[in-house]
Amino acid sequence: MRQAGRYMGEYRKLRAQHGFLELCKNPDLAAEITVTPVERLNVDAAILFADILLILEPMGVGLEYSKGDGPLIHRPVRNAKDVDGLKEFDVGSELSFVYQAVEKICQELNGRVPLIGFAGAPFTLASYLIEGSGSRNYVHTKQLFYNAPEAWKRLMERLAKVIGAYLNCQIAAGAQAVQIFDSWAGCLTPADYEQFVQPYTKAVIDAVTPGVPVISFSTGTAGLLKHVRAAGGDVIGLDWRVNLDEGWATVGYDVAVQGNLDPVALFASPKETKCRVADILRRAAGRPGHIFNLGHGVLPETPVDHVIAMVDAVHEISVK
Ligand code: CP3
Repeated sequence: MRQAGRYMGEYRKLRAQHGFLELCKNPDLAAEITVTPVERLNVDAAILFADILLILEPMGVGLEYSKGDGPLIHRPVRNAKDVDGLKEFDVGSELSFVYQAVEKICQELNGRVPLIGFAGAPFTLASYLIEGSGSRNYVHTKQLFYNAPEAWKRLMERLAKVIGAYLNCQIAAGAQAVQIFDSWAGCLTPADYEQFVQPYTKAVIDAVTPGVPVISFSTGTAGLLKHVRAAGGDVIGLDWRVNLDEGWATVGYDVAVQGNLDPVALFASPKETKCRVADILRRAAGRPGHIFNLGHGVLPETPVDHVIAMVDAVHEISVK
C-alpha cells in the first residue's frame, strides 16, 4: 500500500522542516518515512519512500515539487529534438541515494516484512515528461505518438532501459519485490495501449532480475486489463472501478491480484469500511494470490485511525 505521506502526523512534521526532494535524497529520513507506517499500521510489507519522477531529474528537464501545483517539469519534451536532447546518465551513480535508502530500510526492517521497490512505467513517466505536470486529457502525449511515432519509440525505449536498470539497482540493494506504477494508462484506448505502451512496459518487466516478483499497477484500466496482463508481471493491481472477482477472472487465475479498496472508503466509519473490506475478501474467495490493498494511495486527509482499523479488519477477516 502507498502508505507514506501527508495523512500521517510523523510525515507532516518532517515535511515542515524539509522539501519533498530533500526528504527523497536523504537516505536516513527516507528510511524513517518508510518504516514508520509499517510500525504504526502493522501492514505486511514496506514500500520504499521515493517518487516515480526522481528518475527524470538526471535527464536534465528540471524537476520541481511546487506547493499546491504538484510536481512540475520545467522543460517538457514536445518533439523529436527534445527527445534526442534528453541527457544520458548513469542510473547506478545518479540515483545512489535511493539504493542507500533501500539498504538502510532493509537493515531496520531486519526481515520483519519485505520491502517493495518501485518505478514509474514508461507511459506514465513519458506523460509527465511531455505534459510537464498532471493532465486531464494528455493531448501533448497523444500528439507525440500520433504525429511522431519514431520519436515516441525512441523515448519509450530509452525510458524502458533506464527503468529496468533502476529497478535492478534497487533489487541489488535489497528490495524483495518491485512495483511498476502506470497510474495514467487509463487515459488510453486499448489499441493505443497495445501499440504504443505495452511493448515498453513488457521490456521493463522482462528486464527485472529473474525470481523477483513484479507487481504491475495501473488505474482506470478496467477496459485494458487483458492488455495490461499481456505486458507481464506476477501480480496485477486492480483499482476500485472493477469488482475484484471480475477483474481477477479477466486477467486469469494464473496471476496474482492486488487491490482494491476505494481510498475514499477510509473516510467512512471503520464499521462501514470493514463491510467493504469483507466484500473484497469475499470476492477473492480464499484463492491463493490475493494481496489486499487500496486501489490507489492513501489520500492526504485520511484519518490515521481509520487506516489502522482497516488493516486490522483485513487481518481479522482473512484469518477466518
Ligand atoms: O508510501 C508511499 O507513498 C511510497 C512512496 C511514493 C510516493 N510517490 C511518495 C510521494 C510512491 C510509490 C509514489 C508514486 C507516484 N508518484 C505515482 C504513482 C502512484 C500513484 O499514486 O498514482 C505518481 C503519479 C507520482 C507523482 C507524484 N508525486 C504526484 C502526482 C505527487 C503530488 C501528490 C500531491 O498530492 O501533492 C507526488 C508527490 C509525492 N510523492 C508525495 C509523496 C508522499 C507528497 C509530497 C508532499 O509531501 O507534498
